Amino acid sequence: MSVIEVRASRDYDVLVDECPIDSVGAIASTLAGDMAFVVSDSNVAPLYLGRVKDSLARAGFAAAQFVFPAGERSKTLATYGECLAAMAAAGVTRSSIVVALGGGVVGDMAGFAAATYMRGCRCIQVPTSLLACVDSSVGGKTAVDLPQGKNLVGAFFQPSAVLIDTTLLATLPGYFFTDGCAEIIKYGVIADADLLSLLEDPLTPGDDRLGETIARCVEIKRDIVQLDEHEGGLRRTLNFGHTIGHAIERASDFRIAHGHAVAAGMALMANACAKRGLCAREDAERVSSILAACGLPAASSFDARCLFEAARADKKRHGAEIDVVLMRGIGAVETATMDWDDFARLVEQACDGGYLR
Ligand code: GLY
Repeated sequence: MSVIEVRASRDYDVLVDECPIDSVGAIASTLAGDMAFVVSDSNVAPLYLGRVKDSLARAGFAAAQFVFPAGERSKTLATYGECLAAMAAAGVTRSSIVVALGGGVVGDMAGFAAATYMRGCRCIQVPTSLLACVDSSVGGKTAVDLPQGKNLVGAFFQPSAVLIDTTLLATLPGYFFTDGCAEIIKYGVIADADLLSLLEDPLTPGDDRLGETIARCVEIKRDIVQLDEHEGGLRRTLNFGHTIGHAIERASDFRIAHGHAVAAGMALMANACAKRGLCAREDAERVSSILAACGLPAASSFDARCLFEAARADKKRHGAEIDVVLMRGIGAVETATMDWDDFARLVEQACDGGYLR
């Protein structure tokens, strides 16, 4: 078991263990809420909602729920409005505890509902996808999408606890397990060469190394969030591969999942950085080959123009400029702000196969 303490605008613990899902009620008790409200999706609720409600009942909590259709296409203002309406109908108050039971979409939706309902109630994140375990459940980013772009409406709102249950990952469909590996690779590239080396031997769902690997990613994220909770600078490094990755997600109409899109985004950015002489060509090739070994894409079928146009809707844009994360080596990245002409050239360099296999 690992306990990672996060000290931010709200202090909380991230617990990485086997079966903390059955302790949701006990953790909610320590928060002394008046009731619990579980937000989940159509994939996860049939598997785990009963266990969470049993745990809450054992701790004496009345619990209501809102379950929405799984997938990024549900991460809309409409679904968010339905969630808030369900909370109001269930009698949720500012003293209640929202439980986010699911992957990244559920965590974002439930977290944003908790951040805004009655100006904020507490939220326990119970991530069920590898991607949510290593990244989105920690750090307090919550949001929904607009037709104009991903995560355009949201809030920084730290959870009150994060319960990461490694046993839930054993039943993840392969595509979604692999999807989370992309964010682990990201942590290796931005901050920890040893973590990246570990992935030369790809992780598998029942892998003994899973708990320690997740805990390491959470520690890296914790260290960054504690220094820059509201993404004034350092936290932007967590977006390595995400500008092009979000463009790929958007261009695919979200048929390509976040981690797969970010994987291609990282490979393309590494390629562009090598071409600009910012990092060694061998480092860019290594990123691509580890992605490929883990079953992730290291290229995209969308052309540079398509990705450039999709990236213009990214929230990392400001005025005539956009923030990007450049790779300087394994474990070393830096942020930069580019005008559109320079960014267009970068995307061209990224997409021109060149160094990629
Ligand atoms: N997923 C990037 C961040 O939380 O900042």
